[in-house]
Amino acid sequence: MTVSTESALAVDAVAGLWQNPPTLPTKWLYDERGSRLFDEITRVPEYYPTRRETEILAARSGDIASVTDAAMMVELGSGTSTKTRMLLSAFAEHALAAGHRFTYVPVDVSTEILESSSATLALDYPGIDVTPVVADFTGPDLSLPQTGGPRIAVFLGGTIGNFDDDQRAVFLRRLAGALSPGDYFLLGADLIKDTGRLVAAYNDKAGVTADFNRNMIEVLRTGLAADGLYADDFDHIARWNPARHRIEMWLRARRDIDVWFGALQRDWKLAAGTEIRTEISTKFDLGVLGAELAAAGLDVVTTWTDDAGDFSLTLSRR
Ligand code: SAH
Ligand code: TRP
Repeated sequence: MTVSTESALAVDAVAGLWQNPPTLPTKWLYDERGSRLFDEITRVPEYYPTRRETEILAARSGDIASVTDAAMMVELGSGTSTKTRMLLSAFAEHALAAGHRFTYVPVDVSTEILESSSATLALDYPGIDVTPVVADFTGPDLSLPQTGGPRIAVFLGGTIGNFDDDQRAVFLRRLAGALSPGDYFLLGADLIKDTGRLVAAYNDKAGVTADFNRNMIEVLRTGLAADGLYADDFDHIARWNPARHRIEMWLRARRDIDVWFGALQRDWKLAAGTEIRTEISTKFDLGVLGAELAAAGLDVVTTWTDDAGDFSLTLSRR
């Protein structure tokens, strides 16, 4: 980690850890280890979203390339860009046939993963210009690189669900503002379904999600020079909030915690049983989601789901 991300962590820690309940922005789950653990989550049997979204992309990437005729795809929170490969193949083929170049701009906060996956993609797709950008997509200065033809912004994995309602409205408005009329937005969103399956997807038997969640403690320990802070002192909790139709991820202190943050010169005390909220994952109703996009100035072109109706992809146009 660089000095500047350490101080950004310090700012977020001071703003969030002494709140009731304590919280921290979820991007801090994704250091290099966290990104690798998330990638492992996408393969645990209980975590259906990745497989469902892959199913939709496999069926629809060709349509998306020909309908949008985009010259550039900007992906927010690209991670390892694994599923994105289906879109890249379709766009590469379409651009070749149409006789124009295609640029892929993966955007992520997780520098190491972004750089290594971009290097691999550049080798695997010689016809595509891969130009990664390390940036926080929640920032007020969200902007997209310019290009000759239409652009498509893509936001996959149900990451839209990791915003609360207000943050989501702000994000959609900023994104629409960064797009030009005629540009497209492809959004992957997980849908409301059976509570048992939802909770299991965020509390897998192998404990990968638990390790991923507890990794936030590791990020605090190493990033803020903490003394007396151990990931094993926290239990992973995933619960369904029916009123807000979202999974909430918490870490609960198993004993009284007394931490000294060297980087903050500050003490942090948690009584046994105190819960820290680390993440939410909102699940959607397609009608409501379409209305939210429209309110932000994005008109729905097409919505697809997988055969089981678990997950959705919505193509909209500014
Ligand atoms: N798109 C991938 C990864 C989803 S996980 C998929 O669908 O499987 C969420 C991704 O968003 C991670 O790669 C994480 O590093 C990134 N991320 C989280 N918060 C971010 C933020 N505020 N700004 C930029 N990237 C962020
Ligand atoms: N975007 C993912 C989702 O909401 C992130 C995620 C999956 C996640 N599993 C998690 C975040 C466990 C925190 C903990 O589905």
